[in-house]
Amino acid sequence: MNEKEPNIEMTGESLDVSVQRKQELKQLFPGVFTETKNEKGEVVETIDFEKLKAELGSFSDVYDGKRERYGMEWPGKRDCMKLIQQPSRATLKPCREESVDFDSTENLFIEGDNLEVLKLLQKSYYGKVKMIYIDPPYNTGKEFIYPDKYSESLETYMAYAGLVDDEGKKFATNTATEGRFHTKWLNMMYPRLYLARNLLREDGVVFISIDDSERENIQKLLDEIFGELNFVGSFIWQSKKGGGSDNTRVVTDHEYVLCFAKDIDHMILSRIEIAPEPLDREDDQGAYRRGRELNKWGANSRREDRPTMYFPISGPDGEDVYPIRNDGAEGCWRWGKKKMDEVVALGNVEFSKRDDGTYIVYEKVRTFEPRVKPHRTWLKDVGTTADGSKTVKELFDEVKVFDFPKPIELLEKIISIGASQNESIVLDFFSGSCSTAHAVINASRADSVKRNHIMIQLPELCDNESESYKAGYKTIADIGKERIRRAAQKIRDQQNSQLDLVGKGDLDLGFKVLKLDKSNFKQWQTPSTEINAEQLGEQLELHTDHVDPYATQEEILYELLLKAGFVPTSKVDTLELAGKSVFSIDEGALLICLEDELTAELIDAVAELEPMQFICLDKGFNGNDQLKANAVQTFKSRAQNAEAEMVFKVV
Ligand SMILES: C[S@@+](CC[C@H](N)C(=O)[O-])C[C@H]1O[C@@H](n2cnc3c(N)ncnc32)[C@H](O)[C@@H]1O
Repeated sequence: MNEKEPNIEMTGESLDVSVQRKQELKQLFPGVFTETKNEKGEVVETIDFEKLKAELGSFSDVYDGKRERYGMEWPGKRDCMKLIQQPSRATLKPCREESVDFDSTENLFIEGDNLEVLKLLQKSYYGKVKMIYIDPPYNTGKEFIYPDKYSESLETYMAYAGLVDDEGKKFATNTATEGRFHTKWLNMMYPRLYLARNLLREDGVVFISIDDSERENIQKLLDEIFGELNFVGSFIWQSKKGGGSDNTRVVTDHEYVLCFAKDIDHMILSRIEIAPEPLDREDDQGAYRRGRELNKWGANSRREDRPTMYFPISGPDGEDVYPIRNDGAEGCWRWGKKKMDEVVALGNVEFSKRDDGTYIVYEKVRTFEPRVKPHRTWLKDVGTTADGSKTVKELFDEVKVFDFPKPIELLEKIISIGASQNESIVLDFFSGSCSTAHAVINASRADSVKRNHIMIQLPELCDNESESYKAGYKTIADIGKERIRRAAQKIRDQQNSQLDLVGKGDLDLGFKVLKLDKSNFKQWQTPSTEINAEQLGEQLELHTDHVDPYATQEEILYELLLKAGFVPTSKVDTLELAGKSVFSIDEGALLICLEDELTAELIDAVAELEPMQFICLDKGFNGNDQLKANAVQTFKSRAQNAEAEMVFKVV
């Protein structure tokens, strides 16, 4: 292809994360990128590491790979990077029948392996998610751990969705007796967390439930992916009440919820509302409550420890008051002389006289202060595992469809600090029975904050003997979808019966179902080795009609909009232009025409609307290269006149 000619072919691949990272580096250090000739004599863009070292100045003590270093290593870590960097060629197929409010909802339920799905969401949801909550398999030896294969991840999924492995056997659980127990789990978690981080907004946070089995490992993994500095805290959730009947030496009655920020300097983690303490005292300035003591206690509180903090302040009768400890020794004030004199002058201290005539001095608090930082022990009384099970059982007419769901009160509390602003997207990519979606709609109903949820869940098979299977749910994904339907219906019923208007209007009770599947486009395989005429003929034939003949228009449309970087909840309208049907996405930002017979009139009509992107099918040109070349030209000159970006793509 002539270098000046625009490349109009669409790749059909998800975002290549290494390219994205390179772009980020380029923004920070544009000067370190240069052009050199590679071994084949081609001019390529490279990074001048010497220059980068110079730009980093005092931070440039570069690791040479030979010395020992601090960090976490495990077998397979390198393959994890390859897995991350391999773009997905799969698609997400819309499923209207299983969705609720398909055309208007902004919630998603995606059925599939979360690694492949997270890759597919990279372009459209990059930097858009406010909060991620996950409750991954804890690696207790009883769960199934997904077998990632770096070179054929979609094939693995297709085999899985067909529910057998390469040898036709059912996929098995990860048991502790097997070798590579922790390794397998780490290899599964690392790429998923890495890709999930990309989806977070700058002010976004991730919460991860975990127990002792992998607590230490996941902390190190997260330190590496998010950076130690972005560790917000490890909360303790009281998951169980009462004694323990298990045979451990201590009663394990809590789990952890780890929290990391995308960027701790931009993080928004709301402080929580608690009932303010009453202003139960009064002086001539009005009501107040006793705040903390201004006499310092504990370590370094003797005069000799901090002599400058021993000084007199003006007492209630103008006398000198010194900091005296409860044991009668000379002590220290909490604040320095200037600040102490200021609060005394403002009448904001209370002097409480001891029997021996010395004083304890308190700060007076005159305002309600209802907001406090979340404490690490604050996840108490937010439901236990047993409560989580009870909620789901009640919702499913007393059938126990899912083991150990998280209680929604716990998730509502996490959402209240992690996604407290309007327009927050909450993602859970190990969604199980969809407790997170349930909590999102409940929380939004209670506080009228507009939130949306994205649930991702593998169609993991329910055991044939389980209550869920007998009740008609073949997979955990089926249970998750039904739970959101039932939880939403419960709210609708309450709203109708009580004429309850809370949250009505903006509350999104629907969800759009998408399913991971093979692309609707056959891939053009560039022959890497010699190829005979017959094989070449086969390949060419494949390429001429490379759209799956069984694919519906909607399936093709969703694949294209996703790969063009639009979210699958974008508004889609159908326009009639020059007698042809054209899909308009997000009020004309993207136009897609899937017609088999494209015409010059249609191309003109589309260009006139000045979309940011226009995509059509190659077969629509019916081999008319002149029409295609003219179309490219029409778009080019229109974009130049309009000074707008107008991308024209052919698939
Ligand atoms: C501990 S459960 C989550 C329970 C959920 N928090 C609830 O309250 O219902 C973990 C879920 O992750 C799912 N899972 C495991 N590997 C997965 C993968 N590769 N992709 C998507 N889901 C996966 C499992 O099927 C399981 O339902």
